[in-house]
Amino acid sequence: MSGYSKDYHDYVIRDGKLIGEFEAMYRHSEGVPWRQDEQQKWVDVRLTAEMLRDLAPFEEIHDLGCGLGYYLALLRNSLGDTQTRAFGYDVSPTACAKAAGLFPQFSFTTLDLTADSTGVTAPDLPARRLFVIRGTLWYVFPKLANVVDLIRAMMGAGDRLLVVQNFPPLERPFVGKDVLPDHHALIGHFARRFTPVRHLWYQDSVKTANDNWFIGLFSTGQR
Ligand SMILES: C[S@@+](CC[C@H](N)C(=O)[O-])C[C@H]1O[C@@H](n2cnc3c(N)ncnc32)[C@H](O)[C@@H]1O
Repeated sequence: MSGYSKDYHDYVIRDGKLIGEFEAMYRHSEGVPWRQDEQQKWVDVRLTAEMLRDLAPFEEIHDLGCGLGYYLALLRNSLGDTQTRAFGYDVSPTACAKAAGLFPQFSFTTLDLTADSTGVTAPDLPARRLFVIRGTLWYVFPKLANVVDLIRAMMGAGDRLLVVQNFPPLERPFVGKDVLPDHHALIGHFARRFTPVRHLWYQDSVKTANDNWFIGLFSTGQR
């Protein structure tokens, strides 16, 4: 019997500490982590489609921390058209390989978002291009400045960045609260390199689960 846990949670955050063993998680856990394949009707997915409708269709969509590619596929359906090129990036080579098996028409690349941005270049040609990071900030917050710089280095003038993130109940202690206590702090971190364009904060105050979402659009400035 292998000594590896089959529960994906064990590879993510344990005993109030970030573990962040995503390659081991995609290799050894059972099922689809975070129910990535069941998100079609989630409220943030529906709100994002509405919030960006006037900017669609995008010619390229790049998902940073794409996991198995399901969210990239949802975005391409709602904000792209039949010609839209889709690119996914994840720190786990196994996630990228599995995503390529599920969505062979997309392109997947192994990338550590916390890495130094030296040598990273933006695409040459202008295009109607959307970069996205969703549900990933709790795993990269210790090096958030690097993440913001790397994403900026990957993007060209006129490109847009969508940041989608839910938070634990804000009044309780949680891992990463020192860096991201709320969505205002999130905007502040990204505003260092991007211009905030539009955002919404959705919260269900009656439910006890963490039913909230930040959805924010940022730009790199004019082309
Ligand atoms: C909660 S999943 C989100 C997947 C997808 N974006 C979605 O919304 O369904 C977080 C993903 O971030 C990836 N990740 C964690 N740390 C990363 C890093 N340093 N660089 C790139 N991806 C990372 C994990 O491997 C995982 O697939």
